[in-house]
Amino acid sequence: MKIAVLGTGMVGNAIATKLVDIDHQVMMGSRTAYSDAGQEWLGSVGGKARIGTFADAAAFGEIVIDCTNGANSLAALRQAGATNLRGKILIQVGNPLDTSKGMPPSLTMCNTDSLGEQVQREFPDVRVVKALNTVNCDVMVEPSRVPGDHDLFICGNDAAAKREVTGRLSEWFGWKSANIVDLGDITNARGTEMFLALWVRLWGVLGTPHFNIHVIRGR
Ligand SMILES: NC(=O)c1ccc[n+]([C@@H]2O[C@H](COP(=O)([O-])OP(=O)(O)OC[C@H]3O[C@@H](n4cnc5c(N)ncnc54)[C@H](OP(=O)(O)O)[C@@H]3O)[C@@H](O)[C@H]2O)c1
Repeated sequence: MKIAVLGTGMVGNAIATKLVDIDHQVMMGSRTAYSDAGQEWLGSVGGKARIGTFADAAAFGEIVIDCTNGANSLAALRQAGATNLRGKILIQVGNPLDTSKGMPPSLTMCNTDSLGEQVQREFPDVRVVKALNTVNCDVMVEPSRVPGDHDLFICGNDAAAKREVTGRLSEWFGWKSANIVDLGDITNARGTEMFLALWVRLWGVLGTPHFNIHVIRGR
């Protein structure tokens, strides 16, 4: 499968590397075609992938994974181009972190809006599925780093897109479909993005980013 990974940070690296490892055709997108970070990643996978601009990658991918900096994701997706994204599934991973006042970060928006919704509003022809943003990138691509059952949350307006993403997350990374909780429409991204406030505090207490939560239903 041809997959676009937008973003050259640690999330883009982790996801793109895993997808190359399992023999998918991957293009990593950046603001510039030959970014240092992109070239470094390409070297790390032995040249078995491609790098390009956000637009090059979005045009290449049958499915697009948005791992861009959340505060700048709209800018990155505008560079990717509505025409290149039209009709495609966009797995939207970024959290809209505001680090301007130091740690712990807050969110550039919350409560009544979310990055997932902003992306869906700006690109109405794109099948946006918010996913993976509640776990560290190592856990995203290797859920068994955390023992036992633990959960991932997805949301979006397109039921078929969410079914496909659930299948892909199982096939690519090994998430059990029973542990992927569909929260409903894209407004539920408010909940998964606001989980960041708890996530960073758990990180501080636990001293490792490799943890997750499991929701247990009562009687
Ligand atoms: N780290 C984790 O484990 C984790 C877990 C869950 C969610 N997240 C979220 O995942 C996202 C990616 O995180 P990350 O640490 O891998 O990367 P990041 O440093 O937050 O973002 C890197 C990417 O954002 C692009 N970017 C930065 N400023 C931009 C601008 N002004 N316009 C357009 N593009 C811009 C960069 O483009 P260039 O390539 O051109 O530099 C780069 O590709 C973040 O929203 C983060 O909150 C992270």
